Amino acid sequence: MTTHDERFTAIRKNFAGTARGPYLDVAVRGLMSRASRAALDRHLDDLQEGTVDKSALFKEVETTRGLLAKLIGAAPKDVAYTRNVTDGIATFAASIDWRSGDSIVLCEAIEHPANVLPWYGIARKFGVAVRNVPQTNGTIEIPRIVEAMGNSCRVVAISSVSFAPGFRFPVAELAAECRKRGVMVCVDAAQSIGIIKTDVAEWDVDAISVSTQKGLMTMYGAGFLYVRPELSENMNPIFLSRYSIANEGHEASLGDPARLALAEGARRFDVGNPNFPAVVAVTPALELLLELDPRAVEDYVLSLAAHFAERMLAIGLPVYGGRPGPHSSHIVTVGAALGQAHDAARDLEMSKLYEHLVAAGVRLSIRRDLLRFSFHIYNNRDDVDEVVRLCEGWLRARGKVKAA
Ligand SMILES: Cc1ncc(COP(=O)(O)O)c(C=O)c1O
Repeated sequence: MTTHDERFTAIRKNFAGTARGPYLDVAVRGLMSRASRAALDRHLDDLQEGTVDKSALFKEVETTRGLLAKLIGAAPKDVAYTRNVTDGIATFAASIDWRSGDSIVLCEAIEHPANVLPWYGIARKFGVAVRNVPQTNGTIEIPRIVEAMGNSCRVVAISSVSFAPGFRFPVAELAAECRKRGVMVCVDAAQSIGIIKTDVAEWDVDAISVSTQKGLMTMYGAGFLYVRPELSENMNPIFLSRYSIANEGHEASLGDPARLALAEGARRFDVGNPNFPAVVAVTPALELLLELDPRAVEDYVLSLAAHFAERMLAIGLPVYGGRPGPHSSHIVTVGAALGQAHDAARDLEMSKLYEHLVAAGVRLSIRRDLLRFSFHIYNNRDDVDEVVRLCEGWLRARGKVKAA
């Protein structure tokens, strides 16, 4: 075992949920560490005992903003707090100076509703159009996106990794095409944040929206929005709040509302008090990811997922997403075809395999008719061995084991 692997073995102990059997479901939500739980407990104690120190909380809000910014290679001022991915996308979208005739390009067949409905909301409110790009075998092809852009496109909305089939999208390549045409790119990075290294300089996109419950391994109801500084400096936030203005005084002091200056960068998108419990819980998670190093996290998790995909293929299961190649990510999906069903597969055999795994204590999900296994830093080869063993047993019971 390398020192690198030993490091990951050591941190597994901090995730109590790993002791209950393979947890392969970060694509729904990540396991919370003991450190995040302890931070949250301390905050709840303060609320119960009346010992909350608001200025200490505000300091932590800034520390955490800085940690998230560091994780994606951005400046802290270019990151805002949000409620979730949808909120970040909707906030960005509603703060754009829409002109009549504008359009938005996205792929409804692949994108999560969090990255479809806010754009339809904008279309209804501002009279702009949403142009839909078809999917091709679970992927979205850049030439199809470019074709759909025409001359009216202002924004392309894309996810860095799709929730199903879990394919990784070449964000930087799309951004380069869009930049040439003066089109903005807004990324739903819900599935990749905290797992696949994100570098805003490399992606060169206009906005990135993430939430804290998946790869950041903490709570629902909080997220972050990055906006490219050259863009945010000229944006009028849809919500103006006491945290979105450049205010040196107490949070309740308003100054002269007629002469307000907006806060720098994406901070102008901050709205009211943030979700403090989520902020304190996510701090240790961000510290851990940074300490492990985002590139090492990506390498470890992706190689585990690739090993799992190879083993599942070797026993004869239909691996849809996660086969070695440019699209592979930390998500491995199993099933013959991409469909629409959530939490159940139309393919009865796959449904039975799902039930077999759940009964044996495996945590996984079904999205778009596919069994979805997703990996993070607390997973290891024991998880892979256990799930492959269970799948093999199930295949054997059906007389379907592939000859070696
Ligand atoms: C691609 C993607 N985007 C967004 C979300 C969640 O959006 P929100 O944080 O707004 O609930 C999910 C999963 O829940 C997702 O898989």
